[in-house]
Amino acid sequence: MKKIEAIIKPYKLEDVKDALREVEVSGMTVSEVKGYGRQQGHSELYRGAEYVVDFLPKIKIEIVVKKEDLEKAVDAIIQSAKTGKIGDGKIFITNIEKVIRIRTNEKNEEAI
Ligand SMILES: Nc1ncnc2c1ncn2[C@@H]1O[C@H](COP(=O)(O)OP(=O)(O)OP(=O)(O)O)[C@@H](O)[C@H]1O
Ligand SMILES: [Mg+2]
Repeated sequence: MKKIEAIIKPYKLEDVKDALREVEVSGMTVSEVKGYGRQQGHSELYRGAEYVVDFLPKIKIEIVVKKEDLEKAVDAIIQSAKTGKIGDGKIFITNIEKVIRIRTNEKNEEAI
């Protein structure tokens, strides 16, 4: 099992949610976060100029999927979140050791 953590532009959330529903990924956690990437919150970085780092509002989506569903889920996120401009976001993928559905005590893939 894999966890996909995607940081996206807030206004793209609905599109990403729809795209994930279309590839039948069920379940996600969404948080409002703040962050910066390599432009450090600025649209341009002026060499030598004094600047402050700005946190920009972003949305973090967390989805845990079966390994076989990873690629289609990641593709759906990329296609729906991409504008081609800076700040489109980033996707982090990690391994998940164990999943438990609290209500039924089902484990791992059966609990996703
Ligand atoms: N290395 C990182 N570690 C943790 N979070 C990050 C990292 N890079 C980006 N993020 C998160 O992703 C958000 C969007 O990053 P962003 O898309 O600006 O990345 P970038 O590397 O600057 O790419 P681009 O050049 O397309 O802007 C950031 O606001 C931050 O929340
Ligand atoms: Mg950036």
